[in-house]
Amino acid sequence: MAHVTCRWRAVLICVCSPCIAVVLLLATLVLCMTVTSRAGSQRSEPVHFVAPGTFSDESFAPLPKTFWELGQHGGAIWNRLQLTIDHHFNPILRPDNIQRGSENDSSFEALRKQGFSEVINLDSMRKSFDQLSHQTQEFLSHMHRRDYPALIQPDGVCGAGAKDEREAPLILLAIKSTELHFRHRQAIRRTWGRAGRVAGQWRNSKGGADGGGYVRRVFLLGNGRNESVGGSLSELLRMESDRYGDILQWDFRDTFFNLTVKDVLFWSWFSRSCNRTLFVFKGDDDVFVNTPRMMTYLRDQLKKPQAHETIGDFMIGDVIAGGLPNRVNQSKYFIPDGFYKGIYPTYAGGGGVVYSGLLTRRLLHVSKRVHLFPIDDVYVGMCMVRLNAQPVHHPAFLTFDFPDGEEEELCAYHTILLVHKRRPIQVVQLWADMKITRAQCWDVPLRGALEGTQTQSVIHPKIH
Ligand SMILES: *[C@@H]1O[C@H](CO)[C@@H](O)[C@H](O)[C@H]1NC(C)=O
Ligand SMILES: *[C@@H]1O[C@H](CO)[C@@H](O)[C@H](O)[C@H]1NC(C)=O
Ligand SMILES: *[C@@H]1O[C@H](CO)[C@@H](O)[C@H](O)[C@H]1NC(C)=O
Ligand SMILES: *[C@@H]1O[C@H](CO)[C@@H](O)[C@H](O)[C@H]1NC(C)=O
Ligand SMILES: *[C@@H]1O[C@H](CO)[C@@H](O)[C@H](O)[C@H]1NC(C)=O
Repeated sequence: MAHVTCRWRAVLICVCSPCIAVVLLLATLVLCMTVTSRAGSQRSEPVHFVAPGTFSDESFAPLPKTFWELGQHGGAIWNRLQLTIDHHFNPILRPDNIQRGSENDSSFEALRKQGFSEVINLDSMRKSFDQLSHQTQEFLSHMHRRDYPALIQPDGVCGAGAKDEREAPLILLAIKSTELHFRHRQAIRRTWGRAGRVAGQWRNSKGGADGGGYVRRVFLLGNGRNESVGGSLSELLRMESDRYGDILQWDFRDTFFNLTVKDVLFWSWFSRSCNRTLFVFKGDDDVFVNTPRMMTYLRDQLKKPQAHETIGDFMIGDVIAGGLPNRVNQSKYFIPDGFYKGIYPTYAGGGGVVYSGLLTRRLLHVSKRVHLFPIDDVYVGMCMVRLNAQPVHHPAFLTFDFPDGEEEELCAYHTILLVHKRRPIQVVQLWADMKITRAQCWDVPLRGALEGTQTQSVIHPKIH
């Protein structure tokens, strides 16, 4: 009898185990599909989840074994704050938050503020705060704010140059400037920053220069109010704006650590005012740009067969990968390790970078869930990571100037798209020189532009 029961048990096990396995498999499948369909039902922007701590060296970053724990910020305030937001959008921990739609600016702001009240009140964080440099404390105290009002803006249009446009502008030149840099702005207006129709640098069938397009221009400024200089500058700036229509100024202190605010406010203004503009050049007012070449380069990008798919991710510049925070306390780039730990994401140097109008809108959107970071180009990199987009390196962006001696070559400036850094008087001279050598240097290729190969990001051993 016992023998028979035993046999029956064996049969039962034989029959049932596969059934149980199948049921478990089905359950897992259903669960996965629910999560994916939820992730798929999000509104416009696909959320790219970034697990913190994909680094391999303990001296740079906390090394989390598990992405769901909150204790992986290594005592660094920024990492801790951002972790709160990244957890909120973690598709595994909080699948419901992926079903967004109901999100708006005020809910994003509430989310960022919530992190602040949670984190800053921690004893350990208070201690870290006290040990930060003065500049970083100042940044942290205003880090939650990004709603500064505009003091001066171009009159309803996307910068200077709207007159007589016969097609959508190809590029908006958005140049970071300050109140005191009037001479820089004048030099740019007269040279590479001229707005309106700009010819490119290839020949059309009739032998004339073409490949160009329409250029718009805007200068981005904070408030340079300075008691020792007096209030007269803002009056001058207003006159400058009346004359040229290319001033966009907001009411925040124009300091190095506030440049990120400039980025975010610019994206917001661009999204409202420039819905037709195809590309943005964003850079400093002490660079020299080979605008005709830039136009032609961008036209070529638009002609590529997959352009409509890749343009939403398009960003080129001098790309820096594996950068480390600067830990020298006298440097203007100094970031104490009590504030940020980790390797910087891949980013394009802020001296000059070009990206698409489409990407600008995506950056604005994703920036709402990334806390401001004091170094503006690194911040753009942080946003790019969350868009699952990669900036592309182009060797013709010389944000660290020419290699020794190469500047002297006759056609040197015709082979570049950008060089940093040049004084206003040099910019004017270079522009005049380029006109003289243009015919001779017409066909020289851009630096590093090998026919048919794509440029790739390189690793710079630079500490930024
Ligand atoms: C923003 O979204 C929240 C919910 O996420 C909602 O309570 C609030 O009313 C919304 N605000 C506006 C201005 O739409
Ligand atoms: C104000 O201007 C003076 C003179 O140019 C300068 O030394 C000082 O650092 C400025 N102060 C601020 C807060 O920018
Ligand atoms: C940024 O601007 C705000 C508003 O003017 C100011 O309070 C803050 O001190 C500035 N931050 C830095 C780091 O200069
Ligand atoms: C762009 O903006 C203008 C004015 O703000 C508006 O009339 C136009 O419909 C917009 N075009 C697109 C494609 O959104
Ligand atoms: C900067 O660092 C040096 C040593 O690296 C230290 O002696 C000095 O006190 C620091 N200065 C500040 C303002 O923290």
